[in-house]
Amino acid sequence: MNTVRKLADGTEIPLIGLGVWQVGDGRECEDAVRWALEAGYRHIDTAQVYGNEDSVGRAIKDSGVPREDIYITTKFNPSRRDPAAELEGSLKRLGVDAVDLYLVHWPAGGPTRAWAGMQQSLERGLARSIGVSNFNVDEIAAVLALGGPAPVVNQIQFSPFEYRRTLQDVSERHNIAVEAYSPLGTGRHLGDRALAAIAERVGRTPAQVLIRWSLQRGLIVLPKSVHQERIVQNLDVFGFELSDDDLAALDALDRTGGTGIAHEHPWW
Ligand code: A2P
Repeated sequence: MNTVRKLADGTEIPLIGLGVWQVGDGRECEDAVRWALEAGYRHIDTAQVYGNEDSVGRAIKDSGVPREDIYITTKFNPSRRDPAAELEGSLKRLGVDAVDLYLVHWPAGGPTRAWAGMQQSLERGLARSIGVSNFNVDEIAAVLALGGPAPVVNQIQFSPFEYRRTLQDVSERHNIAVEAYSPLGTGRHLGDRALAAIAERVGRTPAQVLIRWSLQRGLIVLPKSVHQERIVQNLDVFGFELSDDDLAALDALDRTGGTGIAHEHPWW
């Protein structure tokens, strides 16, 4: 299996990225990003509201890995006014000239409110690609109706337990790749018995099975961990394959009914 995917705007994105949501600014975040880069990750996913862009930037700089080899995503905090102005702040904190991907973090104030500013960020070269996060089917349609550069990514809560098939299908139909956040259910899916049985049979951990399911279901996947051995383990998923039966058994764990809704508890 390939380790990168081409997006609709022609850029390439590594299929697995380290997510740093709820990773504390400072030592914890710097260690996690450093370990990820040492393990071979070339994709880090942060956000303005995570409050750890400084640490991500420092770890990248200290790693010695060339900037151009690392795919960096951040997200516009939509409680602020101006996406491009906020991105300038992110770039300073991250210590880079541009991010690879800039997402509207959630559709605050309506799905179209931030899009002109996102397009401006792209035109000014502050971001190489732009997209959205936590957008439902209708919210994607509203953004597309604006015209101009379209989102190339929709980052949503996604796992076999939250198999948002309708939202994935609609996104892909519009050439919008889906990124899975909380692919391990923030850890709470890892104890599931059906999952454990599959993991034992294929000789992998439950986390690896969930990450592999995401890849085989066509997602870009963003597992989070602050432990080195887990960070290493979560990238080690290209050497095995889930059978059609295993995929179907995992699909059956869905509790959303294949929804077009992006998140079970929208907080906006
Ligand atoms: P920790 O960060 O302490 O390692 P998600 O990616 O769905 O947000 O899930 C992240 C949660 O799952 C975190 O609590 C993380 O714990 C835990 N986690 C991540 N990778 C693994 C793994 N390979 N094995 C067990 N737990 C993991």
